[in-house]
Amino acid sequence: MKRYQICCIGAGYVGGPTMSMIAYQCPHIDVTVVDISQARIDSWNSPSGDLPIYEPGLRELVLSVRDRNLFFSMELDEAIENADMIFVAVNTPTKMSGLGAGRAADLTRWELSARRIAAVATTPKIVVEKSTVPIRTAEAIASVLTASGRTHFSILSNPEFLAEGTAIQDLQNPDRVLIGTNTEDPCSVEAMNVLVDIYSHWVPRNRILTTNVWSSELSKLVANSCLAQRVSTINAVSEICEATGADIDEVANAVGLDKRIGVKFLKASIGFGGSCFQKDILSLVYLCESLGLDEVAEYFYWIVKLNDHQKERFVFRIIHGLFNTVTGKRITILGFAFKKDTGDTRESSAIEVCRRLLHENAILSIYDPKVQSSQILSDLGHCTRLDPLELNQHVSIYADPYEACNQSHALVVCTEWDLFKELDFERIYCQMEKPAFAFDGRNILPHERMKSLGFVVYGIGKPLDKRLNLV
Ligand code: NAD
Ligand code: UDX
Repeated sequence: MKRYQICCIGAGYVGGPTMSMIAYQCPHIDVTVVDISQARIDSWNSPSGDLPIYEPGLRELVLSVRDRNLFFSMELDEAIENADMIFVAVNTPTKMSGLGAGRAADLTRWELSARRIAAVATTPKIVVEKSTVPIRTAEAIASVLTASGRTHFSILSNPEFLAEGTAIQDLQNPDRVLIGTNTEDPCSVEAMNVLVDIYSHWVPRNRILTTNVWSSELSKLVANSCLAQRVSTINAVSEICEATGADIDEVANAVGLDKRIGVKFLKASIGFGGSCFQKDILSLVYLCESLGLDEVAEYFYWIVKLNDHQKERFVFRIIHGLFNTVTGKRITILGFAFKKDTGDTRESSAIEVCRRLLHENAILSIYDPKVQSSQILSDLGHCTRLDPLELNQHVSIYADPYEACNQSHALVVCTEWDLFKELDFERIYCQMEKPAFAFDGRNILPHERMKSLGFVVYGIGKPLDKRLNLV
């Protein structure tokens, strides 16, 4: 009997891990992940398991199913034609030009994928919207797919809620799986049942929610906006703390212990990053503006504005703390990824912090345990428009945190990597210029111990160290 065939278009941070989990949990299904990037596919197929993304547990998962019932391939047409179900997990970044630039999601890749499916498919397919898309995308995609009239397509919305750094845990044990479908179309309901059945292999049935397509598409944007809103709220409060002498961690704990609020996602920081939050809020803002809901649009837009303010505020603290000039001073950037346990730098707040410091003529020594040097240089080249030669004069990247701290005027923590908590700060203090400053953008360093060693320490939302002269 023919085995059930799944194809996924897009072998990125979502396509790779989600399909690996389905292949692992459903050995009776063949899963083929395709992409237009030869380099990505080669890396997913790398014999040594040198995968294109770093995610705890991913390598083990992929190696356990690869070439058993999980395949990575460049043969898009073949995979589409063979598939019973096609997930589309291509990237949907914010549009950079044209109508809706800076707000709307760019659906070019999504539409190209739909057109490819329409051109190739000759047998009925279930098409699953895995990418995060604006509300009513499924409807638009349906018209592209059905225009050829060659076969029948059922379209489902199945947004992904995994977070990077915990993707495997999130996929293994999701809070919920959301499937949106056109409930008036019996074929779509049948397709929905097939997808419910796949997830039921490991997700309890009461955590698999089924809704109409539009609720599903909108829920994804709203979930990310709510999470980001919590971060912007606590970051806004961190500024009040610094102005009053309250301590942000004490406040977050006292507030979060109210069960209606909850303690998670109240960690003050240099601002949220990542490829999703800002893009999805802006997409929601664009939707509201298009609907004439100006107050609602403005409400959500402020989440992003506050995030920008937090990054800017952090850099001002560094410059003012270092006697109002960082020109020619060596500053150590600890962490470049947008959060710990990932090598992803998309929209990382570290990029903006570095851009501003470079603009002030600082000399940066950067250390991140998982981000490639080429990625850091590419991100900084892109945001500063400095050519590689100029960049090399101002930026050095180190594979060892102690070397990165040598002769530095200040440590600046941008990512909350656990290893930073365990550094030998006595050794680092000895290597640094004096006074030795530490600006902890994640509040993870041992502040009291560092102060006792002689460091002048700034923590987000923490009572200000008198020696910083910032009040
Ligand atoms: P990504 O950039 O890591 O991966 C997308 C992949 O799609 C790339 O490898 C790209 O080469 C490929 N691609 C683009 N156009 C293609 C085409 N026409 N044919 C074949 N392949 C094509 O993106 P991602 O982070 O995996 O995000 C994918 C989607 O999932 C986005 O809509 C995103 O908003 C959403 N999402 C992401 C996350 C996350 O944590 N990254 C979480 C939930 C949802
Ligand atoms: C997010 C959503 O959590 C996930 O459900 C969705 O599918 C994709 O977008 P991700 O961006 O991978 O996931 O990571 P997340 O843990 O949400 O962190 C986003 C940013 O917010 C990071 O820069 C993180 O450091 C920051 N953050 C998070 C804080 O600053 N404080 C917090 O309390 C939590």
